[in-house]
Amino acid sequence: MSIETENDLAALRKIGKIVAQCLQYMGSKLEPGMTTHELDELGRAFLEKHGAKSAPELVYQFPGATCISVNEEAAHGIPGPKKLAAGDLVNIDVSAELDGYFADTGGSFVMPPESELKVNLCEATKRALQAALKAARAGQKLNVIGAAIEKEARKNNLTVIHNLGSHGVGRWLHEEPEFIPGYFDKRDKRHLKEGQVITIEPFLSTGATEVFDTGDGWTLGTKKGIFTAQYEHTMVITRGQPIILTLPA
Ligand code: CO
Ligand code: CO
Repeated sequence: MSIETENDLAALRKIGKIVAQCLQYMGSKLEPGMTTHELDELGRAFLEKHGAKSAPELVYQFPGATCISVNEEAAHGIPGPKKLAAGDLVNIDVSAELDGYFADTGGSFVMPPESELKVNLCEATKRALQAALKAARAGQKLNVIGAAIEKEARKNNLTVIHNLGSHGVGRWLHEEPEFIPGYFDKRDKRHLKEGQVITIEPFLSTGATEVFDTGDGWTLGTKKGIFTAQYEHTMVITRGQPIILTLPA
């Protein structure tokens, strides 16, 4: 969607803050022995308390309120009986709807003891998100986002997942522009527009360039020993820096 009224912006800010706080809350509750279902239930209760509805459930009938992906899982992990363990890399993706507006955020966490590999992956992916945020301005080509992400990945000897990307959001979970690659695609002629609401969510990996269905119809993962991190914000594109909607404060 594109922002047309003050109310659009206010409503997006409201749901943006809720998903951001939900992500922060869930991240603070990670503990060895906890199941991903238990973690998801905390997220569900948080969203409900704020009057928000899980977007993956609402839009895709996803079997969980949030997506929780552990270690070799990269995205869309189904919450379930899997127990979290020390040293795990855990990605939590929270998207939700309130008053007809959607916001989407996500982040990866490393449970202590933290391996250098996983920490470096997370730090580089955070920097990739910051670099892409800096590049994303109205009038620029959409592919400046992928260019910025890819540059940061290369600098850190990491790969970009090609079949996961950023996207338009706002009145629905996934909107136009539908797939914003995390790599530079010179053939992509689309431009960023003032007022446009999108996510930016780099997926950086310690070796994979693709994720595949791990067999349950939802969870996307890589082969064993490969890890992927993701950080995601929902934002409004402007002529200057984007207005980030998914900040917890
Ligand atoms: Co997301
Ligand atoms: Co998203």
